Amino acid sequence: MTTKDLSIDSTITLNNGVEIPIFGLGTFRMKKAEEIQQAILSALKAGYRHIDTAKIYENEKDVGKAIRDSRIPRQDIFVTTKLWNADHGYQKALKACEKSLGRLGLSYVDLYLIHWPVEGIRKETWKALGTLLVDGKCRAIGVSNFMIRHLEELLEGSSVIPAVNQVEFHPYLFQEDLLQFCRERNIQLETYCPLTRGQRLDDPKLRSLADRYSKTPAQILIRWALQHDLVVIPKSSHPGRIRENADVFDFKISEEDMKTLDSFHEHENLRVSWDPTSVR
Ligand SMILES: NC(=O)c1ccc[n+]([C@@H]2O[C@H](COP(=O)([O-])OP(=O)(O)OC[C@H]3O[C@@H](n4cnc5c(N)ncnc54)[C@H](OP(=O)(O)O)[C@@H]3O)[C@@H](O)[C@H]2O)c1
Repeated sequence: MTTKDLSIDSTITLNNGVEIPIFGLGTFRMKKAEEIQQAILSALKAGYRHIDTAKIYENEKDVGKAIRDSRIPRQDIFVTTKLWNADHGYQKALKACEKSLGRLGLSYVDLYLIHWPVEGIRKETWKALGTLLVDGKCRAIGVSNFMIRHLEELLEGSSVIPAVNQVEFHPYLFQEDLLQFCRERNIQLETYCPLTRGQRLDDPKLRSLADRYSKTPAQILIRWALQHDLVVIPKSSHPGRIRENADVFDFKISEEDMKTLDSFHEHENLRVSWDPTSVR
């Protein structure tokens, strides 16, 4: 598959054979039941088949309800949730997953992630995720906010390679070394905050590039991530923006403009979300 052929239905095969849709809907800060229902149903109508939630978003119950209400067969929607920091440790992690499944009203999730590399205990937690995988509670397991040294530590102590690492990633935080590291080890990088939470959408150099493609800055940022072979999960609660963000499969950013976007990188520690670089 080349990036030219990408469609909203495109998937990437993870290191354990599970297919993950390259494009999905983020749900951070969606709290109200009606908002969640509207966003998820709009997204599914627009062709999204991948929903990202987490225990800490306190919306698993409503996310699960919206997915069930859509009447789309369960196996056609890829659902990710994440283990929160207070739930680290072998036994706690097993229980946390059960509880997330209970809130979601699902018998399994497609991807279960360690949300944050909590120091000292993350290896124990990783063992629990291995058990959950074997037990069929999740189809794939992975991590989030893991930097290279966290991944190296995990890989040294376990034969189970994370299928996914979900991190902040956009042209203004172009973590090329991490991308390369993950590629070489067959860990799929997934980007959160692909739209910089709106903080760089007014950047004049991004705007003028977007104008040349008759696309919006948000669409350029999403397409850039897809062309770097990342899985992308922009969040919006608004049906119009949900459709706009999915309208990225009818054009291709040229190699030259990809390089220009890569050069927007500002600073390794400039993040719009939390910063895991100092976690030991
Ligand atoms: N693993 C982690 O630690 C972690 C951390 C952060 C996020 N995440 C996941 O990644 C997802 C995406 O990240 P995010 O929500 O933080 O940031 P984001 O997707 O970069 O940005 C979301 C913000 O952009 C606005 N927006 C969406 N589409 C837009 C458009 N076309 N034009 C202008 N503004 C637009 C949204 O507002 P409206 O909703 O009002 O449209 C919202 O305020 C999250 O929802 C969550 O699922 C994971």
